[in-house]
Amino acid sequence: MSLFRLKQVNTHAHSDTGLKRTLGPWDLTFLGIGAIIGAGIFVLTGIAAATKAGPAVILSYIVAGTACGFAALAYAELSSAVGGSGSAYGYAYAGLGEIVAWVVGWALVLEYGLAVSAVAIGWSGYVNNGLQALGVVLPQELVTPPHAGGLVNLPAMAIILALGGLLCAGISGSAKLNAFGVIVKLCSILVFIFVALGHVNTANYHPFMPFGLQGVFGGAGLIFFAYVGFDAVSTAAEEAKNPQRDLPIGIIASLVVCTLLYMLVAGLLTGIAPYTTLNNPSPVSTALLSLGLRTPALLTSIGAVAGLTTVMLVCYYGQTRVLFAMSRDGLLPAIFSQVNPKTQTPITVIITVGILLAAVAGFAKIDEVASLTNMGTLLAFVVVCIGVLVLRKTRPELPRPFKTPFMPVVPILGVVFCLFLMTQLEIKTWKYFAIWMAIGLVIYFSYSRRHAVVGRI
Ligand code: ALA
Repeated sequence: MSLFRLKQVNTHAHSDTGLKRTLGPWDLTFLGIGAIIGAGIFVLTGIAAATKAGPAVILSYIVAGTACGFAALAYAELSSAVGGSGSAYGYAYAGLGEIVAWVVGWALVLEYGLAVSAVAIGWSGYVNNGLQALGVVLPQELVTPPHAGGLVNLPAMAIILALGGLLCAGISGSAKLNAFGVIVKLCSILVFIFVALGHVNTANYHPFMPFGLQGVFGGAGLIFFAYVGFDAVSTAAEEAKNPQRDLPIGIIASLVVCTLLYMLVAGLLTGIAPYTTLNNPSPVSTALLSLGLRTPALLTSIGAVAGLTTVMLVCYYGQTRVLFAMSRDGLLPAIFSQVNPKTQTPITVIITVGILLAAVAGFAKIDEVASLTNMGTLLAFVVVCIGVLVLRKTRPELPRPFKTPFMPVVPILGVVFCLFLMTQLEIKTWKYFAIWMAIGLVIYFSYSRRHAVVGRI
């Protein structure tokens, strides 16, 4: 039983998996934007500017965006060449071997899961502030986790369970809510850009790099979170109408749109307010408020709530699809890949995951959860870049409707950039990640290895 046994590449893009194929190129791009724009831009930009990079946070966005650009090209190639809804997990299984696939799948479960929990914590903060502004005050101990002196963060738990219910009901309802949320958040970002353009004070850009280059890189490690999610498009392979053509479009288009918006927002935010004032849970709207711009501040807050909701929805969706793929391959119990015939969604996995993610959101700290998300994501990106290189050598004959340009430079740079960003994360994050991986390997060696479908053939 080789640790590196491979799974057959599923080149038949339209094979019947029990999931319903409803998503076109626009849906997939919206799915990507839905997953990408959220707590990163609306919360972490301010924190990164104030504590790490200063106004040079825009450079942090360029560094992290470049790493993601390389990885996105690799994702685009593999999503068009290797079918399956397991995303990087599936590509690793087809090209690098089972143990690598397990490690990546386990990292993706962490990435998507903790992204949902982290964003739910941010969502709860925004909604709570909004309710307070309307005069509705919830009991403090029920909106505050224990480390901050309360009992539990109940709104964070409630939103996850509500989204779980929506995902159980079917993919098209979730796609509709996502499309609506994406339009709201894009409009609110455009409002911010237009309003902020008229209020830039160039004095705020001095000093531009108060914490030096190291601050820029530390900022990049943090705001990398803002880009997390474009890869979720590739988890929708089995619900896409024409995955080989449309997945690369969805991945690249959503990343390009979001990167451009991020540059503008980061540049303008640090232009309308001194970077030292941005370390708060809602920097975009507080910066507008400090200029007396109440209506735009309200509109951006609404956009932030919509944005955070769609991020949770798509990352939650992505996580269930990765678990679904791992279970179908026999690496996790079969119950995780049972599709409800009526709704055509994997209800059991959605509910189980929802309860666990809600438990994390109710009690954990947002920054620790977000850093762990980054770690899981970066590992997956590294493997996908390596996967492109390896599959070009071992499976040159595979049809590749999309090809990564400038081979092998792009995937090699992708590996280098992502490894570098991993080194920017704190030791504590590395420790938690090691524990998670150790648990994963115990499951692999005690269960998955013996139950893998590949081993039965
Ligand atoms: N990119 C997502 C966000 O910023 C995870 O919320």
